[in-house]
Amino acid sequence: MTINPKRIFSRGISLYYPKLFLKYPNLLRLPDNIMIESSNLCNLNCVLCTHQDMKRKQYNLSFENYKKIVNNLGYKPESIVLQQIGEPFMNKDLLKMTKYTSEQGIKPSVFTNGTLLHLFNTDEILNSKIHKLVIALDGVTKDAVERYRIGANFEQLYKNVINLLERRKKIGGIPDLRIQFLMMKHNEHQLEEIRKLAKKYKVKLVLKSVGSFGHDVDMSEWLPKNKGYSRYNENEENKRIKDICPNIFESGVILNNGNVVLCCVDFDGTYVMGNIFEKSFKEIFRSKEYTKLRQRYFGNDIELCKKCDLNIEGGDYSKIEDYSNEK
Ligand SMILES: C[S@@+](CC[C@H](N)C(=O)[O-])C[C@H]1O[C@@H](n2cnc3c(N)ncnc32)[C@H](O)[C@@H]1O
Ligand code: SF4
Ligand code: SF4
Repeated sequence: MTINPKRIFSRGISLYYPKLFLKYPNLLRLPDNIMIESSNLCNLNCVLCTHQDMKRKQYNLSFENYKKIVNNLGYKPESIVLQQIGEPFMNKDLLKMTKYTSEQGIKPSVFTNGTLLHLFNTDEILNSKIHKLVIALDGVTKDAVERYRIGANFEQLYKNVINLLERRKKIGGIPDLRIQFLMMKHNEHQLEEIRKLAKKYKVKLVLKSVGSFGHDVDMSEWLPKNKGYSRYNENEENKRIKDICPNIFESGVILNNGNVVLCCVDFDGTYVMGNIFEKSFKEIFRSKEYTKLRQRYFGNDIELCKKCDLNIEGGDYSKIEDYSNEK
């Protein structure tokens, strides 16, 4: 997300005078970025991901309903990320959705585990108007990838990634293509190999810190030895951030059933503020229901926020190395 001056102003108010937004929700700036869950199905079972805990029905959003959602936002965001928790390439209509998004003057972004790319035509992916595509590649060997990405086939994934990168060199497409390396104890030694790959294909490399997704697990097995890439402080108690979580005033997450929910951490859709098939997102975002939920946050009354690990110092750390202009 580009942080523009209007967003900085709005964030300033939310940090220093949040009560102003609670009293006058119409002053709230609408989110620059919206997430629409194109699918909550997934072909993998990554060790720490909350997908395994999901109790909601799992299915693909239809193209018709996707269009209805986009048409009922009530304003034009800068970008739409086409998933929440789930694998977007599970949905065979994904590329129709990204094209439609772009036709509306909105930038489509997709985050993928990359293991299903071979089921789509490579040229169609590159011509699908996806603006930002982030592909998870946690290493260059079978163990580095498959130990965490349960159900993945490393050989197929690697082939998919190289195939897409090679073809992109010839025909272009996807202006902002990124390889994402989730830094963990068992794969951190492969960082240089991944860097070489990113440099060779002139793409951005996202170094992401591994999180527990709120699970009560011993993270010592997964946290990288290089403390610079860890979001947790193992020796001291992890400190809750003092600032107000920006998602309280800036998040826009819409599930495949149309429900508008608290934020991307709300994987099971527990905190619902309204349904976009009944009211526009703009109305929901500034509604009484949403204000009540925001008030609960300030009263420390949202269970999800209490154990959220995006809400600790260093939470959701990720660093981007840009090799797109390498000679
Ligand atoms: C829930 S996934 C949904 C998209 C897609 N299924 C995927 O895996 O890329 C969203 C992002 O979380 C990342 N992720 C997976 N496990 C993680 C963990 N333990 N800590 C931080 N990020 C994680 C994924 O690589 C992806 O970039
Ligand atoms: S991280 Fe992505 S691929 Fe892995 S289980 Fe979660 S949603 Fe699926
Ligand atoms: S669950 Fe976490 S990210 Fe979501 S609003 Fe609460 S503190 Fe913020």
